[in-house]
Amino acid sequence: MKNVVVLISGVGSNMARIVDCCRDERWPARIAAVVSNRPDAAGLERARERGVPVLVVDHRDFDSRAAFDRALGDAVERHAPDWVALAGFMRVLGDDFVARFQGRLVNIHPSLLPAFTGLHTHRRALAAGVRVHGATVHLVEPALDSGPILAQAVVPVLDDDDEHRLARRVLAAEHRLYPAVLRWLIEGRLRTDGPRAVLRAEPGESLLLLPTETPDV
Ligand code: GRF
Repeated sequence: MKNVVVLISGVGSNMARIVDCCRDERWPARIAAVVSNRPDAAGLERARERGVPVLVVDHRDFDSRAAFDRALGDAVERHAPDWVALAGFMRVLGDDFVARFQGRLVNIHPSLLPAFTGLHTHRRALAAGVRVHGATVHLVEPALDSGPILAQAVVPVLDDDDEHRLARRVLAAEHRLYPAVLRWLIEGRLRTDGPRAVLRAEPGESLLLLPTETPDV
């Protein structure tokens, strides 16, 4: 049994999908804890409803980023995680935190990296006029939104999209992508070879998730 700790700051829809898939698909893993840096994160209730232990490490309780990172790291470490999944965790983590969990720290970012690192990815994708957009799951390295790309999900950008409609479509793709990648990692079927990820795939599995037939979610 592998232990997974999920870090959130907000709604927690990716976290909820991960918890549900872990249970429904009988992953050889348990979601050991959900940790939020915000006491008001809606995702905390969603985790509680699912019977997952939750805890809050409020960044406002600490004088420095380093002190917060240490406390967060200690809280995560107590659950002996094999994997630490950032799922809408909106604080930049310091190098020490990243080094502490390097190789077992994964993130989902709402763009096709390396395009559109940082915030407001959907607005910026629309402004850039791209025809494809999506989400990336990657291993975390110290620089923001960097680290080996594990898998990507592509969605189309449609003519009448606005930021919110595009965001909904990307989020639906995230909900397919993130649980799949975590499952592969937990099962030991996904590894990196230099900058590239390699999947021991079963039929129908791919590190590239293409748009569904009905993109307009
Ligand atoms: C997702 O789009 C994720 O990629 C981004 O923040 C959003 C979190 O959504 N980093 P949720 O909290 O999982 O619902």
